[in-house]
Amino acid sequence: MGSTELDAAGGRPLHDAVAIVTGGASGIGRATAIGLASKGCSVAVVDIQADAAEETAAAVRALGVRAISIGADLGNAEQVSKIVANSVSALGRVDILVNCAGIYSGTSLLDLSIEEWERCHAVNLRSFFLLMQGAARVMIEQGDGGRIVNVSSSSAFRARRVSPAYASSKSAILGLTRAAAGELGPFGINVNAVAPGATATPTAFNSLPRGREDLEAMVKGDGPASNLLGRLSEPEDAADMIIFLCLPESRQITAQVMHVSAGAVV
Ligand SMILES: NC(=O)c1ccc[n+]([C@@H]2O[C@H](COP(=O)([O-])OP(=O)(O)OC[C@H]3O[C@@H](n4cnc5c(N)ncnc54)[C@H](O)[C@@H]3O)[C@@H](O)[C@H]2O)c1
Repeated sequence: MGSTELDAAGGRPLHDAVAIVTGGASGIGRATAIGLASKGCSVAVVDIQADAAEETAAAVRALGVRAISIGADLGNAEQVSKIVANSVSALGRVDILVNCAGIYSGTSLLDLSIEEWERCHAVNLRSFFLLMQGAARVMIEQGDGGRIVNVSSSSAFRARRVSPAYASSKSAILGLTRAAAGELGPFGINVNAVAPGATATPTAFNSLPRGREDLEAMVKGDGPASNLLGRLSEPEDAADMIIFLCLPESRQITAQVMHVSAGAVV
């Protein structure tokens, strides 16, 4: 098959595409924005940390492609509702949506407040739905298909020592991904989820007293966060899978969850 056929089946080639990446100020989202840009893709970097999002956008522009930053709290539906329109107005179109931003909630079922539950689900799930709806409407109008990648977690697959607010939000992303893949498939829009395991980022470190050191010990141990390789993931590990799911070569993959957890989930 020639590259033109590949591109036609798999959406727009990255050097001609525009992506929205949430959580782009840090960790997996930042690595994804820079990885997509290194393949020529223009990027709208969305994050609540507006200054750090702008730093990522500057790093993207330094690679010779267009980028904007959008400071937004994804827990606020009104702010979320403006993201797709602002991206299209600045960059002309949207071909890829990477829903990556997320917050961890470590509170147990017995202690969890309604406020913490709702905040976790607003950021980790409701924003995914709203951005998918907004981006898919634009992709359908453009008529070139598209790619949506939602970041879940190995926590969606574990039965112990995982907080209910976080685990339920990350599990619900899988149902949302499958339902959207079914609805958007006829429009040439592939929708997949990526489920990272323990990854060296602030979200994972912040809840641990010794940060990276604790996380490295956990993946090497026998506990619930251990993995088969005994190696902590770096942000680029999940980002590489996300980027693959945006390439023409993954054109026949949709409604799937791709595990990047060194075998922590089988
Ligand atoms: N690090 C891990 O071990 C791990 C494991 C599984 C899944 N994940 C998931 O990966 C995704 C990326 O996280 P990461 O590990 O790169 O962490 P990270 O802390 O490096 O990045 C998360 C980003 O999301 C942004 N964010 C948080 N709340 C926001 C809000 N309300 N509005 C807008 N932006 C907001 C943060 O500012 C930050 O830039 C998250 O969805 C997380 O749940 C991480």
